Amino acid sequence: MYAWKNYEMGTCYYPEHWPRELWESDLERMLAVGIHTVRVAEFAWALLEPEEGRFDFALFDDFLALCAEKGMQVILGTPTATPPVWLTEKYPEALNALTDGTLLRHGARRHYNYNSPVYQRLCSRIVEQMAARWGQHPAVVGWQIDNELNCETDEFHSEADNAAFRRFLREKYGTLDALNVAWGTVVWSQIVTAWEQIYTPRPVLNGGYNPGMLLDYSRFVSESCVRFAAMQAEILRQHKKPGDFITTNGLFGNLDNQKLMREALDVYTYDSYPDFALGLDRDPKHSTDLNDRKWTRNLIESRAVCPHFGIMEQQSGAGGWANRMEMPAPRPGQLKLWAMQSVSQGADFVSFFRWRTAPFGTEIYWHGILDYDNRDNRKLREVRDFGEALRKIAPVCGAENVAAFALVKDCDNEFDCRADRWHARIASHSEKEIFAAAELSHTPYDVLYLNDETSFDALRKYPALFYPHPMLMNEQRADLLKAYVEQGGALVLGCRAGLKDMHGRFPMLVQPGPLREVTGTEVSDFSFVSPAEDADPDYPVFHDVLNALEGTEVLERYRTSYYAGEPVLTEKHLGKGRCLHLGSAFSRDTARRLFRRLGIEEPFARWISAPEELQLVLREKDGRRFLFALNYTQETQTLTLRVPARELCAGADCSGVQALPAFGVAVYQLN
Ligand code: GAL
Repeated sequence: MYAWKNYEMGTCYYPEHWPRELWESDLERMLAVGIHTVRVAEFAWALLEPEEGRFDFALFDDFLALCAEKGMQVILGTPTATPPVWLTEKYPEALNALTDGTLLRHGARRHYNYNSPVYQRLCSRIVEQMAARWGQHPAVVGWQIDNELNCETDEFHSEADNAAFRRFLREKYGTLDALNVAWGTVVWSQIVTAWEQIYTPRPVLNGGYNPGMLLDYSRFVSESCVRFAAMQAEILRQHKKPGDFITTNGLFGNLDNQKLMREALDVYTYDSYPDFALGLDRDPKHSTDLNDRKWTRNLIESRAVCPHFGIMEQQSGAGGWANRMEMPAPRPGQLKLWAMQSVSQGADFVSFFRWRTAPFGTEIYWHGILDYDNRDNRKLREVRDFGEALRKIAPVCGAENVAAFALVKDCDNEFDCRADRWHARIASHSEKEIFAAAELSHTPYDVLYLNDETSFDALRKYPALFYPHPMLMNEQRADLLKAYVEQGGALVLGCRAGLKDMHGRFPMLVQPGPLREVTGTEVSDFSFVSPAEDADPDYPVFHDVLNALEGTEVLERYRTSYYAGEPVLTEKHLGKGRCLHLGSAFSRDTARRLFRRLGIEEPFARWISAPEELQLVLREKDGRRFLFALNYTQETQTLTLRVPARELCAGADCSGVQALPAFGVAVYQLN
């Protein structure tokens, strides 16, 4: 795994969009504000290979030479997200298709599919050409594969995908009989009698897809994407300098990002646009509405892929396409706040999108640091201030984020949520609420992705695990969770846990199936909650009525519906640990009650007292503690330091009551 040794700042630059006369002053102005890295070329295929097999490296040769001269580092993007027109005209099989097989035509971007052999060959060739030419270039420090794999769409329906889906299933199941059983195709006459009868999801009435098929389709898309990236990584590895890294910028759906990281990358980078969480329709004045603060969830996910990640694209201006999306410009202070949000969650490299707003093309409203007029502006000043803050907080680089618990997830259940609406509703509600509870109570967490290879050690480092709704469960994972509890861990499970097998079927078992031993409960009845009739804010969305088996304590009971008085929350002690089983989805209040019961709430309380409006993040390195306080509100907030500390950005010793202005960030080194 690659890690940045010091904080670094970068920007996304498109030399092909600007007259060459601007390059030098652009690079000099970047260096003057502390930007030492540019990412280039990720959409430049049409210039690099203007005709099939004819390569033209002149523009980037010249630009890289200038970068080397100026001391600017370069991350080169492989341009496979935007195949040129000649390519898709000659090889339409490289294009992606809609579910009905209609080819997506040239234009926009990521209009290709991962599985077309022709496309794979042409991608390999352009990557090989670029890597051979610039792999040893002194200005190059890293490579970005493609751009935002699975962004724009994470579904693929070309002929090449149909063929590859069949191969994938053949490898997985061996026989059609096994596949028919796994998918339950006996329902509605869906039995397939030849592999050629299988397609990626095609248009059907009312979206009535076979859920087993959809689950495998997500796994297939993920696998196709990982292989496509690994194909490129293998070529890059043959040519790059030993210290240079291979990355890609995420984070998108239908993709096992952990596997992508393991099989193709040295380091992970994320594209952070908090405006997506703010938009035009939110109320940023409402101080405990999480708005842009909840973008932190994605940063926690990035940390789960790679503990010390980078930001390849950090929002610097208003967002929007010419024909899609309207977003406000970051207010003074917000650009820096959002960049610090990334840093606080583990980003050691922050590269802003983009140096200057495009004057033409689809993204004319996706604003960069500089505006169309190219004058110095408040955003540039803020980038410089952020760079200065990074220098002041240098000792924090590489520090670990402290987590009071882990939120456990896994790709099988993630993918099942795309196939199972019940599952999706429950899971998304709980995840939002657990995040809100953790944020508002200052109880930080990590996300931990579980798979069949996950070791006991990966779980053991957390005193508590929240695994809200693992509907898909197998014996192996259930055993791992049981071992975790027996060895002293606290496991929290929500409704619908342990219901399905790994094909998404319901085995004829009493719920929660293989988890019954660890929960010490049985589910006697269940239902969605009708908001009109059975609403109880503590137990939202769905109710599993629990029956506590011998030795299991009932902590809370339902207060609504015909099962009022029946258990909703139970606790079972097993070995040195315990398992809490909640029969519903999680509300933020219930999550907070659970934090308190487990003794994990607000682990910073002995050092700091802060209102809900402030985000707190604790980092540790070499026995030193660093506490970030971030104010996403438009008012000054105050906090109280209970121990003497040094605020690193101002370089000032402090204790007691501190004011944090609107959009302000403080980084305290605790003594
Ligand atoms: C990202 C993408 C960039 C740019 C940016 C703003 O998704 O990687 O190329 O489009 O969003 O829209």
